[in-house]
Amino acid sequence: MDNMETSRRDFLKGTMWMGATAALAGCVSSAARICRPGAMTSFAVPPIKKVRVGVVGLGMRGPGAVHRLSSIPGVEVAALCDLYKTRVDRMQEVVKKNGGAPARSYFVYDGEKGTGADESKAWQAMCDSELDLVYIATPWKLHTPIALYAMEHGKHAAIEVPAAMTLEECWACVETSERTGRHCMQLENCCYGDVEMLTLNLVRHGKLGELVHGEGAYIHDLRELNYLDPAKGGYQGYWRLRWNNEHFGNPYPTHGLLPIMQAMDINRGDRFDYLTCVSSNQIGMDAYARVKFGEDSWEAKLHPRCGDMSTTLIRTVKGRTIMVQHDVTSARPYSRINLLSGTQGCLNDYPFRIALADKPGDGAHQWFDAAQTEKIYKEYRHPLWKVAGALAQKMGGHGGMDFLMDLRLCYCLQNGLPLDMDVYDLAASCSLCELSERSALNRGASQDVPDFTRGGWKTAKPLGIVTVDLEKLGIRDVTRDESQLNV
Ligand SMILES: NC(=O)c1ccc[n+]([C@@H]2O[C@H](COP(=O)([O-])OP(=O)(O)OC[C@H]3O[C@@H](n4cnc5c(N)ncnc54)[C@H](O)[C@@H]3O)[C@@H](O)[C@H]2O)c1
Repeated sequence: MDNMETSRRDFLKGTMWMGATAALAGCVSSAARICRPGAMTSFAVPPIKKVRVGVVGLGMRGPGAVHRLSSIPGVEVAALCDLYKTRVDRMQEVVKKNGGAPARSYFVYDGEKGTGADESKAWQAMCDSELDLVYIATPWKLHTPIALYAMEHGKHAAIEVPAAMTLEECWACVETSERTGRHCMQLENCCYGDVEMLTLNLVRHGKLGELVHGEGAYIHDLRELNYLDPAKGGYQGYWRLRWNNEHFGNPYPTHGLLPIMQAMDINRGDRFDYLTCVSSNQIGMDAYARVKFGEDSWEAKLHPRCGDMSTTLIRTVKGRTIMVQHDVTSARPYSRINLLSGTQGCLNDYPFRIALADKPGDGAHQWFDAAQTEKIYKEYRHPLWKVAGALAQKMGGHGGMDFLMDLRLCYCLQNGLPLDMDVYDLAASCSLCELSERSALNRGASQDVPDFTRGGWKTAKPLGIVTVDLEKLGIRDVTRDESQLNV
C-alpha cells in the first residue's frame, strides 16, 4: 500500500466510532455488505413518498434551504439543528409559515452564543432520529464528519460545498456511501443555473462539437464577510477566515468545476488524470485589513496564508483540459467564468456570449449578436428551466438554481431515481482542495487525481437531460398559481 492508501485506511479505522448501521434499503441489507466500486453512479433507492429532512447549520445558508425544502410538496422538514437555539427557533417559524408541523429541535447552546460544550452531540442526536435525509449547511470542517455519521445511521446525506476538504474525507465519503448504500450528494447549486443547464443541453445536442477545454471559477470579493464579526452576522467562529489563514491553493473549487464535469462526462466516460496549481501571494486581505481596521489591528497583523488568485489546470485521461480559479480577496466583479469550447463552438458567461460554427469545419470567429443569442437561448433552454424556471425564480435562491437543485433532489428520492450528482462527483471535485494546495506549495508540481470510481468511469452513463414532472409533485400550473406549493 502506498502512503495515500495507508492514511485512507487509518482514517477509516478512526471512523469506526460511528456506531452500528441501521437497517437499510437499496443495495445493502447489512453494514457488512459492500457495493461494487463505482456502483453509486446510477444508484437509486426505492421511492420515499414523504421525504423527512433534517437540516443542520442554520447560519447564512441554511435558512434558505429550510424555506425551500418546507415548500416542496411531499417533503417534511422534520428536524432542525444548530449550535444556537435562537437560530433553530427562527427556522421553526419558517416551517410553521409554510404549513409544516413543528420540527424536532436540536441545539447546543440555549441562546445565540456559548462555548465549551461537546458540539457534536446535537447533530449526532439529530442523525440518530427518524429521518430520510440529512441536509448539511455547516462550516466546512463539519461537512464530512456529519455526512459519514448520517450514512452510518441509515440516512442519505446532502452536503453543502465543498463536501470534503481532504483526500481522506473524499475517500471516506465514497467508501461509506458504497458500503451503506446511502446517497452522498454534494449540493452544487451551480449545476442548476440557467446558463450552466443551457450549456449542458447545447453540449448534448452536439452544438459545441467535441469538447476540448473548460474554464470555471469562484471569483467573489468576500473580504468584508470574512472579517465580519460573527456576533454581527459574520461566519460563525470566523470559520472561513480561519481556513484561509491555514491553507493555500483552492479551498472552494466546485462552483465553476462541477457544471464542466457534467458537460465533459467526468466519471462517466472520462476522468481527471492529473493537475497542477499555481497561487499568487496573499496581498488583498492585508491591504483591505490595513485600510478598514488600521495597521495595529489584529486583522492587519493576521496575514492569512491563502494566496489571492489560485489557478488550477486539470488534464483528463481523454486529453481535455479544465482551468479552475479561486479568488475571494480581490476587488473585481463576481464570476464563475463558465467557459466551454469545442470543435464547433464556444460559450462564455459574465456576460453570457456564444459563438457557433455554421457547420463542422467552419470557424466561429464572432460572438453571436443579441438576436442570435436569444434564439439559441429560447431553443435550447434546459427542459428543467422550461418546466420549473418560473416557479424557481419565485422561490429564489441565487436566481432560482438553489430551488431547482432541491426540487430535483427531492423529486428523485420521491420517485426512486438516481440523483444527478453522486459521491464520485463529490470526491473528484473536492479532491482539488488538497491536491491544489499540495501542488501550489510545491512550485506547481503535477498531482495525480485518484480514480474514485475505481474503473467505473469507463462504463458509467453520462448525465442525461433530466427534468421534473410537476403533476407528480402535486403542482399543476406554477406560472399562474404558486399556492399549490406549501408557501
Ligand atoms: N452553494 C452556495 O451557493 C453556498 C452559498 C453560501 C454558503 N455555502 C456553504 O454553506 C455552508 C455554510 O455557510 P454559511 O455562510 O451559512 O456559514 P455560517 O457560519 O453563517 O453558518 C454555519 C452555521 O452552522 C452552525 N454550526 C456550527 N457548528 C455546528 C455544530 N457543531 N452543530 C450544529 N450547527 C453548527 C453555526 O452555528 C452556523 O449557524 C458552507 O459550507 C458554505 O460553503 C454555499
